[in-house]
Amino acid sequence: MNNLVEQLLPEAIKNLIPYQSARRIGAKGHLYLNANELEQPLATEPSFAPLNRYPDFKPQQLADAYQAFSGTDADCIAVRGADEGIELLVRTFCAPGDDHIIVCPPTYGMYEICATATNVGVHKAALTDSFQLDLATIDQQLPSSKLIFICSPNNPTGNLINLDDIQFLLEHTRQSHIVVVDEAYIEYSEQDSVLPLLDQYPNLVVIRTLSKAFGLAAARVGFVLGHCTVIDALRKLIAPYPIPDPCADIAIAALKPKNTEIMRQGVANLNRIKVSFCEQLIQTGLIEALYPSATNFVLVRFKPNINPFDLLIAQGIVTRNQSHEPALQDCVRITIGSEKSMAEILLALNNKVRDAV
Ligand SMILES: Cc1ncc(COP(=O)(O)O)c(C=O)c1O
Repeated sequence: MNNLVEQLLPEAIKNLIPYQSARRIGAKGHLYLNANELEQPLATEPSFAPLNRYPDFKPQQLADAYQAFSGTDADCIAVRGADEGIELLVRTFCAPGDDHIIVCPPTYGMYEICATATNVGVHKAALTDSFQLDLATIDQQLPSSKLIFICSPNNPTGNLINLDDIQFLLEHTRQSHIVVVDEAYIEYSEQDSVLPLLDQYPNLVVIRTLSKAFGLAAARVGFVLGHCTVIDALRKLIAPYPIPDPCADIAIAALKPKNTEIMRQGVANLNRIKVSFCEQLIQTGLIEALYPSATNFVLVRFKPNINPFDLLIAQGIVTRNQSHEPALQDCVRITIGSEKSMAEILLALNNKVRDAV
């Protein structure tokens, strides 16, 4: 595997010596005057101590907690949300102006944005009509690419990508590419994770987050899991102090077994609300297609000329318009909220039906 990372890393990154932050150097003493922090916290009310000190360079305890939760032996690094993981992978493995990533639209927009922002090219292998991988097109785009981003379950379509296809791609690119599987929503469909494949495929990298099922979007905590040589390469470029201490403490508490059980109960409850919402949505008669969802949202295609986004926003209900995507005309993505919120959407839609009669 060393070979693959060696082969993929741009020269500049290969030769880069990471910034030696005070925490990374980590000398032991009784006075710490090495990081230009405020040594004595201010007498504010409330006191902000110990935030006068920089956090750990590498919140290893947090990464260990996630590794224990996920039950994998793969290496793990904590990042500032899955978004930082995506950006870090692009910056680490792709040389600006030379390399490309492959994305499979319609999918999460940040893969393309991170690449474009760093002058890395983007090849697009659109998903098939059933929102699955187009393996033939991906194959054509492999020669000039280094990373392949797959989102499963996919945002905004909500479906899982076939595990067999992902495994085929991993096998096919074992010596040549890193396949990144973004599992931001996997807790809603846990049995379909690619995590068990990490043992078998050192070219697999998995991105996870606490922003969705764990309910910690504002804490900005995510994880990248993969082979130690890949994770070590990411450690070269990660920000000197990636996770604020209060966020790391919250995340460690969220990963305790008692709280992960509560997270699972939350998932079961949300999935129950989702099923009931979908049944009632179909009954409105406004729907052209309702796509299967393994996430905390549903992608809904409305009949033409309904303009669901405008209709709902006029009632103060904000959904995500997807009509800008060529394959998603008349579609909105609706996050599943409480029973009360979903009842409000259904009421707004049923009123529309009544007005039309
Ligand atoms: C597929 C996917 N990946 C990553 C993210 C970003 O997650 P985070 O909040 O951990 O940065 C999102 C957020 O919506 C997402 O939908």
